[in-house]
Amino acid sequence: MFLRRAVTIVFLLLLSTTLSNAFLFPILLKKRAIIVTKKKLCIKKIQQQKAAAAAALTIGGAASGFTLLQQRQQSILNDKYNIYQPEEGSLLGQTIVITGGSSGLGLESSKRLAVAGANIIVTARSDNKGSAAIQQIRAYLEKKNKATIPEQQRLDYKVLNMDDLQSMNQSFTDNKWDDVPIVDVLLNNAGVMAIPQRETTVDGYERQIQSNHLGHFLLTSLLSDKLSKRARIINVSSSANQFAFTGLKFNYLWKAESGYGPWRSYGQSKLANIYFTTELQRRIDAIPTLEWSAATLHPGVVPTNLGRYSGNNDDLEAIPSTVLDNDSDKENTIQTFLGSLANTINQDFKSIEQGASTQVWLASGAEFQDIGGKFYDRCKQQQLRPFALNKEDGKRLWNESEDLVGRKFDLPSLGTSKDNEIVDMVLDEEDSSNNRTSTTTEDSI
Ligand SMILES: NC(=O)c1ccc[n+]([C@@H]2O[C@H](COP(=O)([O-])OP(=O)(O)OC[C@H]3O[C@@H](n4cnc5c(N)ncnc54)[C@H](OP(=O)(O)O)[C@@H]3O)[C@@H](O)[C@H]2O)c1
Repeated sequence: MFLRRAVTIVFLLLLSTTLSNAFLFPILLKKRAIIVTKKKLCIKKIQQQKAAAAAALTIGGAASGFTLLQQRQQSILNDKYNIYQPEEGSLLGQTIVITGGSSGLGLESSKRLAVAGANIIVTARSDNKGSAAIQQIRAYLEKKNKATIPEQQRLDYKVLNMDDLQSMNQSFTDNKWDDVPIVDVLLNNAGVMAIPQRETTVDGYERQIQSNHLGHFLLTSLLSDKLSKRARIINVSSSANQFAFTGLKFNYLWKAESGYGPWRSYGQSKLANIYFTTELQRRIDAIPTLEWSAATLHPGVVPTNLGRYSGNNDDLEAIPSTVLDNDSDKENTIQTFLGSLANTINQDFKSIEQGASTQVWLASGAEFQDIGGKFYDRCKQQQLRPFALNKEDGKRLWNESEDLVGRKFDLPSLGTSKDNEIVDMVLDEEDSSNNRTSTTTEDSI
């Protein structure tokens, strides 16, 4: 009896479980499917929300990035050193000689310094280039509302090729510079960059070192007795001097006979610009009556015609630089927009107008700052690296340059060899006292 009841209960229990499973399972399945769908919807929604948030963030980021860029662009535009323009009339009566005035930074500097009233003498490699440059400077002055250029303001050119030392000397012995009695500023700007294959000049030197340094060394020397009492000599170097981070290599520098590298030679020549400046200043400082200042600079990375050799572009090489310098063509182009964007992101990328600022500022007197022997970028003094500060290299560069151009660079007011002996003595004394000081300092450490 008991056993039968127990069996019945178990049977009923099994039956109810089966029945309930049979009815409940589909319901549960449906419920589960609903939950899964809901979950999926939820995930999709979350994903959509995430995507929307990411898009919002991207748009927001871009917008605030754009605002930041705009703010930065505005502050660049408000900076008077961005495109430094000396005041109109502030350089009246001063004479400025600018080498390589037929193109790029030299031409732009000539225009801006002319607006300030200076007499401008540009040097160019031919009459055509020289007169084209003067035409462009005049047109610029007229555009700047200087309808009548004062008669006493001289805008002129001299033909000069740095790659031919003999012809440079000749232009002085032929009295071609006699009509320039005094020079207040010498802006040594002409240059070439990264010539792909080694080239030598008629004088037998590697072309970059001659165009960029030796020619200017000779010109400065030839003009030295015309330089006024407070003359400024501005040598355009480049941050590319850092390619020569192991210092001047005198067994390579002048002829680059073995191991020629386009950038190697450019770097060496731009480091030579710095050493020429600091050594010239050292010699100036040894003569108390002389108040000249020599300074050097990096203009920035500027889209001038300087790259026409390094781009391996034969067509460009054949085009005269004055033709490439067509400002109006460049205006309103996407290039201008990209240029300004690049400048906003990295201030070393500059337009030609911006690139000329530091040399215009230095040439115009640098607002009475003491610029002697210093290196500038964006109108601010920059520290030179140790490899650019070796006095012995400076002296050696000077002496070897004198030998190579075949002319002793006597600073004026000295004139006689006796006086030069005195300067040599002063410099030697200065050197030995410096050596003593450094030995004493080392001893005391
Ligand atoms: N642009 C940059 O990014 C940049 C950066 C750092 C430093 N720099 C320096 O800035 C200076 C000016 O260059 P730029 O950018 O204005 O280049 P650019 O437009 O090519 O102008 C160079 C000027 O130098 C003249 N020149 C070249 N070799 C000469 C020679 N043997 N004798 C006489 N004149 C010669 C050229 O005359 P032709 O028209 O006859 O060729 C031209 O007028 C150079 O010293 C360069 O090293 C430029």
